[in-house]
Amino acid sequence: MFPRLRSLLKGGVMFEVLWQSSTRTYFSFWGAANLLGMDVCGTQNAGEFSSEAKGETFEHTIRVLAGKRVHALMLRHKEAGAAEKAARIVDKYYPGKVAVVNAGDGPGEHPTQALLDVYTIWRRLHRIDGLTVLIGGDLKNGRTCRSLAYLLSRFSGVRIIFMSPPELAMKEDILKHLDDSGTKWRVESDLKAVLPQADVVYWTRVQTNLDPELGDNPALAAQLRDAYHIGAAEADLMKEGSVLMHPMPIAGEISSEVDDHPRAVYFEQSDNGDPIRAALLLHVFGIKCPEEDQMEFHI
Ligand code: NCD
Repeated sequence: MFPRLRSLLKGGVMFEVLWQSSTRTYFSFWGAANLLGMDVCGTQNAGEFSSEAKGETFEHTIRVLAGKRVHALMLRHKEAGAAEKAARIVDKYYPGKVAVVNAGDGPGEHPTQALLDVYTIWRRLHRIDGLTVLIGGDLKNGRTCRSLAYLLSRFSGVRIIFMSPPELAMKEDILKHLDDSGTKWRVESDLKAVLPQADVVYWTRVQTNLDPELGDNPALAAQLRDAYHIGAAEADLMKEGSVLMHPMPIAGEISSEVDDHPRAVYFEQSDNGDPIRAALLLHVFGIKCPEEDQMEFHI
């Protein structure tokens, strides 16, 4: 199937090395690379299935992996800044040999998720400029919220509304970036009042796996989650043509009754991970996809 797409990166190899679990990102990177003819191998549990379990440092693991016959290193790590650190190691020992892709670095960033989020908005609403985007949930630990806010700041006239319990508020670094880039943002707390104003509602779970204080205290995590819950009644308040997004996994902050609501697009959003990551890989290797093949990205 798709012989032309499969020839674009044929012979290329990608390692997917994850220190944290993943469903969407892991499989969509695999699907994207596979669609373009790359070979992929990796692990979802690098803490156990790598020599880290024997005491090897992150630096050594990355240096060893980068020395293999590999062209892209997709990394998900528990620490913020890990992918950048890996890129510096690659630059030092194998400059220009391997592309390092950040697939989530602890409470830091998740740039490819932001790309697919913005792509989803663009496919649905046909623009990004001038939109009002309500971002809610665990803004403190949620790397997707951070990367999305960052990417939205590249467009003009976007207004961001943040909503979270105060304990999970967006950190200063992103707010400062928004200020510096002239992006309008504000914090609101009345969900029902704000829902009808938003073109995009982007909801997220409480990051119990990233924040030990929340992981060790399920009652607190549930209380913070339930502070802002979206059920059918809330989804009904959203305006015609607006979209309800979520990077997934959903862990109770949106009721399952909303899954088939006309506003909900989070499964479509997840599907968009494959074409966006395929496009990213092509971009990284400087290959242009022939226009007539581009629709196959969506199959
Ligand atoms: C997100 C992540 O890992 O940051 N998941 C994803 O990649 N779609 C969101 C989350 O785990 O809550």
